[in-house]
Amino acid sequence: MSGQRVCVSDFEEEARRVLPKAVYDYYCSGADEQNTLADNVAAFKRWYLIPRVLRDVSTVDLSVSVLGQKLSMPICVAATAMQRMAHPEGETATARACKAVGTGMMLSSWATSTIEEVRSAMTTSGGGGGGGVLWMQLYIYRDRELTLSLVRRAEKMDYKAIFVTVDTPYLGKRLADVRNHFKMPQHLSLSNFSTASLAFSEENYGNDSGLAVYVAKAIDPAICWEDITWVKKHTRLPVIVKGVLNGEDAVQALNYGVDGILVSNHGARQLDGVPATLDVLEEVVEAVQGRCDVYLDGGVRRGTDVLKALALGAKAVFVGRPVLWGLACEGEKGVTELLELLKEELRLAMALSGCRSVSEVNRSLVRRVEFTSRM
Ligand code: FNR
Ligand code: LAC
Repeated sequence: MSGQRVCVSDFEEEARRVLPKAVYDYYCSGADEQNTLADNVAAFKRWYLIPRVLRDVSTVDLSVSVLGQKLSMPICVAATAMQRMAHPEGETATARACKAVGTGMMLSSWATSTIEEVRSAMTTSGGGGGGGVLWMQLYIYRDRELTLSLVRRAEKMDYKAIFVTVDTPYLGKRLADVRNHFKMPQHLSLSNFSTASLAFSEENYGNDSGLAVYVAKAIDPAICWEDITWVKKHTRLPVIVKGVLNGEDAVQALNYGVDGILVSNHGARQLDGVPATLDVLEEVVEAVQGRCDVYLDGGVRRGTDVLKALALGAKAVFVGRPVLWGLACEGEKGVTELLELLKEELRLAMALSGCRSVSEVNRSLVRRVEFTSRM
């Protein structure tokens, strides 16, 4: 039986107990030795918050505008694949929770619910947050017509932006998935695709991670900056690159006309040994010089983490695994509870720091911890 959930790790602990081992392993793993996985979380502890006092924090406004959409808070849901492994309602439950809380959801190309189902779940749910926004995460397939069909379907269903994932020419090596010969349970498939080979529902993926085999077959490892131009040419939606980790690539992204940059190491699931996202955020923000919005994901687990990322220049943050834990615990209710918990933690952190609105959060709020021995 579940106890009271008072922080994100309570959700993870409960999820670990209820999920089949291979599913939990797939969700939680990072690549190789998982050094970056640990560092994504640890990086937040390398910054102090420097609060201001006596500023009347009786009301705190968490709202922000992300890619032209008003959200109730600067905490959004990152694309995570195959959410029906966590709960039978999968992505549709997540979408309803986002609507209830008034935030945005990035839908994975590899969702186990279709683009259309997720739109309909969000639109028809009551929600109290007066919001709910969908964005589409795009993997560029070797088959470009297929790739464009995802974009067109997202446009038609009123998704508000395309996040092109640029850090996955091949899948990173996640040891547990190799050992488990990870594939999806038989009753599920990548719903946006109609053939077994594209829907990741074939029988035989050998002794490897089935997903790694799928990616090697289906995803184009040859994509380069011109492909961003190609995506932009085919859509009227804002295009954001997901997976930039340094200032040079951020400038390059601007040269290719992106509308936003998501600083991400894919939840440490691709190249192990890269820096924590928080540690490269400032470099990217400085390189961009306000020419587009910069977002961050990776290791965000509490309200104070969100506040530190905002202080270092992120316009908003995205959370991946915590949402899967919420889903596994209690479906839509679990995700709503998880997002509300992060929201309330952020509200408290802002109030205790003397920030009455997100626009008052700035660089002077954080200072890097000098002594690594404290870690
Ligand atoms: C992901 N991520 C991801 N990214 C993407 O562009 N498309 C995808 O389909 C997926 N799928 C996926 C599945 C799972 C199980 C995880 C954990 C992650 C990466 C995701 O969008 C995001 O970058 C990270 O999850 C952020 O890190 P945290 O919040 O999980 O630490
Ligand atoms: C992953 C893919 C789906 O990280 O992006 O597993």
